Order: sequence, then C-alpha cells, then structure tokens
Amino acid sequence: MNDLLYVNGGNPLTGTITVRGAKNFVSKSMVASLLGETPSVLRNVPQIRDVKVVSGLLDLHGVNVKYDTDAGILDLDPSNVESAHVADIDAHAGSSRIPILFCGPLLHRLGEAFIPDLGGCRIGDRPINYHLDILRQFGAVVDKRPNGIHLRAPRRLQGTKISLPYPSVGATEQTLLTAVRADGITELSGAAIEPEIMDLIAVLQKMGAIISVDTDRVIRIEGVDRLEGYTHTALNDRIETASWASAALATGGDITVKGATQPEMMTFLNTFRKVGGRFEVQDDGIRFWHAGGDLKSIVLETDVHPGFMTDWQQPLVVALTQATGLSIVHETVYENRFGFTDALRKMGATIQVYKECLGGRDCRFGQRNFHHSAVVSGPTPLSAADIEVPDLRGGFSHLIAALAAKGQSTVRGIGLIDRGYENFQDKLEALGAEVVRG
Ligand code: EPU
Repeated sequence: MNDLLYVNGGNPLTGTITVRGAKNFVSKSMVASLLGETPSVLRNVPQIRDVKVVSGLLDLHGVNVKYDTDAGILDLDPSNVESAHVADIDAHAGSSRIPILFCGPLLHRLGEAFIPDLGGCRIGDRPINYHLDILRQFGAVVDKRPNGIHLRAPRRLQGTKISLPYPSVGATEQTLLTAVRADGITELSGAAIEPEIMDLIAVLQKMGAIISVDTDRVIRIEGVDRLEGYTHTALNDRIETASWASAALATGGDITVKGATQPEMMTFLNTFRKVGGRFEVQDDGIRFWHAGGDLKSIVLETDVHPGFMTDWQQPLVVALTQATGLSIVHETVYENRFGFTDALRKMGATIQVYKECLGGRDCRFGQRNFHHSAVVSGPTPLSAADIEVPDLRGGFSHLIAALAAKGQSTVRGIGLIDRGYENFQDKLEALGAEVVRG
C-alpha cells in the first residue's frame, strides 16, 4: 500500500463531504452482535480499517459477516459462534483496541476468551487494568500469557457493583457488554456517558437488555438470559466532523459536512465560535467556515463528555496556530497527546509543551512528568515539510497542517489515517485539495 501523500497546500478547502457512522460506536455495536441469538443489521457503517479488523475477529469466532460497502450495511449472523485458534487471533495483535471488548460476550457464549496484545494509537500508556478488574468482579478468571490474555468463566458471570476511578469509555462499554447477560443486577458508578455509549445502550436495549442511565454517572443493568439480534443505524462520527471543521478553519475554507448533527457537537461548536469560526446547522449537516479576519486565541481543556473531547484537540490545535495571541490547551484525558506538535513546530508553528496543568484545574497528570499542556502562539504561517504521521488524530492534524502550508509537503504513514477516516483522499479532492499518493 502506498503510504505517502504529497500535499500541495496553501489553498482553502471548500465544498461538501459526507460523514457516516462513528468509528468509536460502530466497532462496539459489531461486538454486541455476538451477544444475540439471532442476526443483527447495522446501517451507516463507514469503510474504515477498524471495521475490517473487527469483521475479521468476528469471522474468526464463527460470526458470518457480510458488508455492503456502498450501502454501508453490515449483516452479522452469530448463529455459529465458536472458539478461534489462538494463532489466528494473535495475527490480529497490535491492530486495534477493540479485542478487549470481546471478553464479556465470548465468556457468555463460550465460557472462555483469548485476547491478543492490543494496538491502537500511541497517545499514552493506555492500560487495560480497569477492564481486567471489571471482568474479575463479574467472576472471570484472568490469566496473562506472553502473547495475550486468556479468560474463562468457571460459572455464569454474576452481576456486581463497579465503581470506575475515571469515566473510561472502554471500561464502561466492557461493563455494559458483560452485565447485560450476567446473572442479576450490575450497578456501575463513575460511568462514561459519551453519545457513542448512549447509542450502544440503545442497541443493547433493542436486543432485549434492561439498562437505566441514572443521574451522576450511574448506570444500572439487569441481566437477562437471552438477547436477540438488532437493526440499528449508527450515529454519525462527531470526531470526523470536528476534524473537517478544523480543516476549514486552518485553511481559511468553507466545508459543509453532510451527516453532522448538532446535539453531539454542541461543546465543539461553542469552541469553534469562540476561535472565530462560523457555522450553520442545516437539516442534513453543518456548514463550517472561516469568516475572514483574525482567529482568536482561547483557553481550552479536554475532558470526558460533555466536555471538549480529547479527539477534537489535535485537529483544532492546527487552527490555533493561525489564531492571534496565546492559546492554552490542557489535555486531561491522555497523558501523552501532544507528540504531533513536533511536526507542527518543524512547519513553523510556535508551540511549547509543559508538564504543569495549565488552564482551569489540576488533572491526574499534574506533577507526573507528562507533557500534557501546550501553549500555542500565533499566528504563524506554516511552511511545507516532510512529516511522519504519529497516530490517527495526530495524523489528520498533520494533513490539515500540510493543507494550510504553502508548498508541497510529504506526509508519511498515512495508512494510519485509514483506520478512522473513510475515503479521506477522495474527500480532500472533493474539497479542492491537491493531493497525490506517492
Ligand atoms: N484508562 C486506564 N485504565 C483502563 C482504561 C483506561 O487507566 O483500563 C485511562 C486511559 O489511559 C485514559 C483514560 O482512562 O487516560 C480514558 O481512556 P478511555 O478508556 O476512555 O479510552 P478508550 O476507551 O481506550 C476511546 C476511544 C478513543 C477516545 C477515548 C476517549 C475507541 C476505540 N477509542 O478510547 O478514541 O479518545 O475513548 O473518548 O472508542 C480515537 O478515536 O482516535 C481514539 C483514541
């Protein structure tokens, strides 16, 4: 695969593109299909590599997966779920973090599960201690092996009381996917309540689960003996939407994102407006544009929902290099999400990273040697460079920077971007970008 993109930047991106289902929901609801006794149908599925990876893992476990890529429809038939060979599962090692979510469903269906070493973006340590603690609380026996983790359920998993030390998205999903078929009631406090999690709860409810979302991040699940398949249309990708919005701002462009929805974007839209961007919510999408004049610097802190998403941070920082004055960005979700700024500095941006918690409040990473705050001084014209994609969102940010910079940049390792951005090259071309795969 050609992993290089030559980008001739310096021109505003203008036009219309479409986003489909959210990467961080679609993969989880694919896993949920394992819990059903009958087939499931998922609509609005984007053609991204994470969908391929999860399809491969489901296939290994006997799920019959059919994907109509143009229509975006996945048919998932779990009638013959079976154990997979460790070597086959291991071949998927390093490709994604989703395998950890197979644990609960496989323990219910087969009494055991093997999870390969996990991949995903290198944006911090990304431990799985919450996941393993949760599974142990349900009664699973966890055995760490050199190439992965083996789990078994000596008897039916038991509902339990779980309190998360931090509202982790994955740990909340782990609890949901395990509790729905456990014996009795599970009470989860300190839960994440991201829109993608609410959509997963909607899917599980369609399957026959009994889940109530109470106040103060408490989710209560009454286990049931049997779940059916579901038919569901995935919510759209709010991270991709914000990425294109940031691209419009950084390049002085005007992008309409069909499929973008306002409720999931509210926090982003507030920030976008404060920086000086304009938007118009339409019936079938949102138009984002740079209104001309100077962009304004801001103080920004990432947080769990309903805060400003960590995944929105990297693309927006590129736009902040074009804002007048000092912007302060405090990353409180991941300890190491500013690695991508090295490339921006090489392109002329003035960004300094700090170990201190800059911004409104202290976070888990203060005084712990993590460069998790950044000060961006602008505006600085960006110049073309030869840059290497570090991770999914950082990679898209590099693309935005290359599009904003005058001259030809070489962006290496763009295969990483295929993990979460559907047909991004076609979309860039539709917006008038001059890009060529090398
Ligand atoms: N954490 C632990 N222990 C655990 C699990 C998490 O300490 O066992 C910590 C993490 O290290 C992190 C924090 O808790 O500091 C939050 O992590 P979380 O579990 O919420 O993240 P995740 O479920 O691994 C998902 C998305 C990420 C997104 C985060 C936060 C998927 C596949 N990934 O990750 O998306 O940033 O939630 O919203 O859903 C991306 O799409 O590029 C991406 C990285």
